[in-house]
Parts: sequence; structure tokens; C-alpha cells
Amino acid sequence: MTEAARGAVTIHHGDNLSVASALEAGSFTLIYLDPPFNTGRVQGKALETARTATVAAASGSLRRGFHGREYERLRGDLRTYDDRFDDYWGFLEPRLLEAWRLLADDGTLYVHLDYREAHYAKVLMDALFGRERFLNELIWAYDYGAKSRRRWPTKHDTILVYVKDPDGYWFDSEQVDREPYMAPGLVTAEKAARGKLPTDVWWHTIVPTTGREKTGYPTQKPEGILRRIVQASSRPGDRVLDLFAGSGTTGAVAAALGRDAVLVDANPEAIAIMRERIPDAVVIG
Ligand SMILES: C[S@@+](CC[C@H](N)C(=O)[O-])C[C@H]1O[C@@H](n2cnc3c(N)ncnc32)[C@H](O)[C@@H]1O
Repeated sequence: MTEAARGAVTIHHGDNLSVASALEAGSFTLIYLDPPFNTGRVQGKALETARTATVAAASGSLRRGFHGREYERLRGDLRTYDDRFDDYWGFLEPRLLEAWRLLADDGTLYVHLDYREAHYAKVLMDALFGRERFLNELIWAYDYGAKSRRRWPTKHDTILVYVKDPDGYWFDSEQVDREPYMAPGLVTAEKAARGKLPTDVWWHTIVPTTGREKTGYPTQKPEGILRRIVQASSRPGDRVLDLFAGSGTTGAVAAALGRDAVLVDANPEAIAIMRERIPDAVVIG
């Protein structure tokens, strides 16, 4: 494999909805979203802004063209189960719609969620984007920290994957780092040496508390997880977008693999960490 030249990174400091609305439609091959989890009610003002944007988006062709009527009914039904989710979705939905607008025709959207949101989000995104555009549910399993004795300890995240065009999306499993066979004795020495292709369940440590990767940002995701995503769903020279960039994991990985990246975060601490982590990045705002 030849090494690609390092990609360029642009960091935007600001609310991702307004930054995204100024970016060019269809210009990103890969979009990764790792929104904050639904820990409570969003601020009234933020919700109002999100709802206004939702109404605006609802008048666009996306909702009418796909499953508009079913979507409204579903959203109403889910609201009756958990009104906290309704607040969360009010925040996320307009951002998902923007991400979908920015996705290239051969592009892929990865949405990183926890077990509390994943199932609501799956149903709603199926309705929003079209069930036939759902590609995968990735499970990232880790084993770290305290373990409940009252239920099975929850040690995984869920990443839902959607493609813009189910007949024309980019996916190259040959480029993905392989992993060791669980029972190497059962395959040929050649196969064991090459390793196996990862499945949709990824065992991977959290970011080690000490070591090169650690930035100190509390929700930082491991580079190994993002590396697989970038390797499979984009080519060198493609553009990658992360609207909830945090410590900039997506940008650090994408640039090292020769992709250009656009990163957005509203938190000044995230911007400071990204500046340090990706010193050649251009920072806007
Ligand atoms: C779960 S963290 C992302 C962590 C990141 N994947 C990493 O590896 O470091 C979510 C991020 O979204 C940012 N965020 C939340 N709401 C935002 C908004 N409306 N606009 C831009 N950034 C936002 C937060 O500041 C936080 O850094």
C-alpha cells in the first residue's frame, strides 16, 4: 500500500447547525457524528432553534421524497414513551438533515450513539433517510470501569451507518486494518499471519489513560475505531466531516490517511485541544 500525502484539516469554532448550513451540498464522502448523549433536557433556546430548523427542513424535498408521513407519526408515538428523547431528537434531527444534505452521492454517514438512544434513533433515521439506506449497526465493545451487579454491565456503544445511495456507495474492506483470528490454529498459517477482516462487532480498548493518544478530553474516542471507518468508507483525497469533533480524533486520523477533514465544535476547550493535536490545521471562528 503506498502512503498518501497528509490531508488538510479545517476546524470551525461554532454551533454545528449554522456552520453546516454554509457548507456545500454533496461535498463529503464520509460524515461521522458523535453527539453528546441524552443526559437531560436541552436548553429552551437551543430546542426552539432546533425546532424552527426542523420545520424548515420538513418543507424540503428530503422528507416529502422519502417517508414524510410515516416519520411524523413515528416521532409522535416515540414522544409518548420518553419526552426526554423528544428534546434530544429536537436537537439532533436538524443536524442529521444537514449532514445528509452534505453527503456525497457515494457517501456514508456514521452516527455514534449509546444504548439508551440507539434504538429510537434507528427507527427515526430509517424513516428520515429510508430503511433501504441503512447499511450496518456497528457494536464497539470495551471492558473498562465499574461493573454493575444488578444487571449485565453496559460496555458497548452503537454506531449506526447509512449510505446515500445503496447501489453506489464507496466501501473498501481491503483497506481496513485486520485483526487476529480468535482461533488461529483453525486457519492456515498464511491466513493467521494476515489476520481476519473485522465484522460488525469491534472489540477495542477505550483511549488508554496514559499514552500517546490521550488528550484529556473526556469523551475522546479511540483512533483505532475512527481509522477503520475512514479506511473503509473514504479514499485518499476525499473529504471527511465531523460536526461534533471534540478532541479532533476524526481529523487526526483522516489527515494521517491522506483525507481532508472539516471539524466543528462549539466548545472552546475542544478547539484548544484540536489546535494542539493538529498543529497544521486552519482554525476559523
Ligand atoms: C461526544 S463529544 C465528541 C468526542 C469526539 N468524537 C472525540 O473523539 O473527541 C461531543 C462534542 O460535541 C460538541 N457539541 C455539542 N453540541 C454542539 C453544537 N451544537 N455545535 C457544535 N459542537 C457541539 C461538544 O462540545 C463535544 O465536544
